[in-house]
Amino acid sequence: FGVISLQTGASQVQDNHSMSKMTSTSHAPLQKWIDKMITLCTPDAVEWCEGSNAEWDRLSNLLVKSGTFTRLNPEKRPNSFLARSAPSDVARVEERTFICTRRADEAGPTNNWAEPTEMRELLQGKFQGCMKGRTMYIIPFCMGPIDSPLAKIGVQVTDSPYAVLNMKIMCSIGSSVLKRLEEEWSGVAPKKRHGHKFFIPCLHSVGAPLEPGQQDVPWPCNEDKYIVHFVETREIMSYGSGYGGNALLGKKCLALRIASNIAREHQWMAEHMLIVGLEAPDGTKTYVTAAFPSACGKTNLAMIVPPESYQKAGWKTSIVGDDIAWLWPHEDGKLHAINPETGYFGVAPGTAYETNPIAMDSMLENTIFTNVALTDDGDVWWEGMTKEAPAHLIDWTGQDWTPDCGRPAAHPNARFTAPASQCPTIDPQWQNPDGVPIEGIIFGGRRATTMPLVYQAYNWSHGVYIGATMGSEMTAAAAGTIGKVRRDPMAMLPFAGYNMGEYFAHWLEMRRYLKHLPRFFHVNWFRKDENGKFLWPGFGENMRVLEWIVKRCHGTAAGHETQIGWTPAPEDFDISSMQNYSREQFEAVMNYHRDEWKAELVSQAEFFLDLYDHLPKELIFQRELLAARLA
Ligand code: PEP
Ligand code: NA
Ligand code: MN
Repeated sequence: FGVISLQTGASQVQDNHSMSKMTSTSHAPLQKWIDKMITLCTPDAVEWCEGSNAEWDRLSNLLVKSGTFTRLNPEKRPNSFLARSAPSDVARVEERTFICTRRADEAGPTNNWAEPTEMRELLQGKFQGCMKGRTMYIIPFCMGPIDSPLAKIGVQVTDSPYAVLNMKIMCSIGSSVLKRLEEEWSGVAPKKRHGHKFFIPCLHSVGAPLEPGQQDVPWPCNEDKYIVHFVETREIMSYGSGYGGNALLGKKCLALRIASNIAREHQWMAEHMLIVGLEAPDGTKTYVTAAFPSACGKTNLAMIVPPESYQKAGWKTSIVGDDIAWLWPHEDGKLHAINPETGYFGVAPGTAYETNPIAMDSMLENTIFTNVALTDDGDVWWEGMTKEAPAHLIDWTGQDWTPDCGRPAAHPNARFTAPASQCPTIDPQWQNPDGVPIEGIIFGGRRATTMPLVYQAYNWSHGVYIGATMGSEMTAAAAGTIGKVRRDPMAMLPFAGYNMGEYFAHWLEMRRYLKHLPRFFHVNWFRKDENGKFLWPGFGENMRVLEWIVKRCHGTAAGHETQIGWTPAPEDFDISSMQNYSREQFEAVMNYHRDEWKAELVSQAEFFLDLYDHLPKELIFQRELLAARLA
């Protein structure tokens, strides 16, 4: 048996099974931590996750019974489920996300600092008895291919079976990870290069204990939420939310906020970036990364399908990752990258066969949908999936929906959780522990004005400056005013685990460890004309931009020096082969207006002021140089 029954009388749906055999671990520090967590959270039962398909079946059936999951029509969407969250638990909560360090300026000013001892005490109170009436699941997990020099093992304890199933898609979980941890702890394993002797403890609770006889709700959570990172001791504690970024602790919490701290100390980088492979007709393959803020099209670019003319010419694209990249200076002198994840937690609305067929084909089965609408034949729908909406749906709140009802059918931040292995364009190297070599680094955001379609940085410092001053209009991925431009350096504003100025200094320093430097670019797919019409078609056509980037990385395309950086000419883009796209439109999307850039410089200066004490002088110089060029 795998369930240790600690108490009885809970009204939570209990299942009778005899699955995993695990009830304890030979890894003494892990066992000690688990015992402590059981004493703190007082669950009714404890279950070690083994990560098997039988376990997936059992837990998904349990969630169907408890009303959290609706099983989708197996003929349309085999082994797939719809989850509807509580209406208040639909996105990451940046205001409730904390970085705990002894000194306040080690964390701030762009994230929320909290004093570690006080926060620990506060959370002790929150977690005390928080799993009463529920099962505690123990999830050993590994971010990254386990033999990669950067791979990290964590152990998440959670009272959310929804989190368990999402974690199974998003990374390696279960017995194999635990076995490796135990072997390295006991010294049985041959001295492996990377040492998985210890784990990163991740405590998660939805914060909704059940009294004996109390009826559970489909999506338990707490109005009071805390997403907390103790970066000095590498611990994560998350309370009150069941939503993805708040509850799947391997993802944003470990792979970005904690990992950025580890990376800083060990000369690597944990970044909010997609990784895409671009194969030219001559067979050369170029990997680039791109950092865009949440819901700005990282998944779409990572899964780009080139226009037909490109396909005919022999261009091929492949995906290594769509959200997070861990990068390190490889012994070959190049910057290498792995994707620490094995799944996609993508934004559903706007995803369609026209916009991203690869994503659509990745979620045909074995997928969890959260806060999308349910069709009458038991499948899913969301805004933008088809041109015409179905005549009737059950919306994300569980109510009847018709096209004229005035409400969105899916929540704007509705998600799909799909296994990367199901992606038709998955790169053959995506699980290579050695990663892939990165030739180009792309920054970008959602900007209606100012930013041209693409430009290249002059050098590493200028590239870091471009990343550091990135701005984007806000989206539904986080609570806030949609549409307002906010500075989002390297798309890491919600994810940097330490002081932003120090983070820039780390970026500048990384150049020293590389013999072969990747080139930096800035892109903007979202520029509009005076009438609010997009000036660039985007999607597959972005391949034209990528081709120029690839060729710039290899020094085989022209760049034209301008005040803001190197830019392409219309000839470099073969605009004539684009249907219904004129040279004038291209010039409009590439143009820069001095007045807009003046305003941009002022807004950047304002952002820099907040960081002043820790801002590397090199970035201030870069801003001065830009101002001088624009003068
Ligand atoms: C999330 O919101 O849970 C998430 C995974 O991140 P993002 O907002 O970057 O998509
Ligand atoms: Na997995
Ligand atoms: Mn993201």
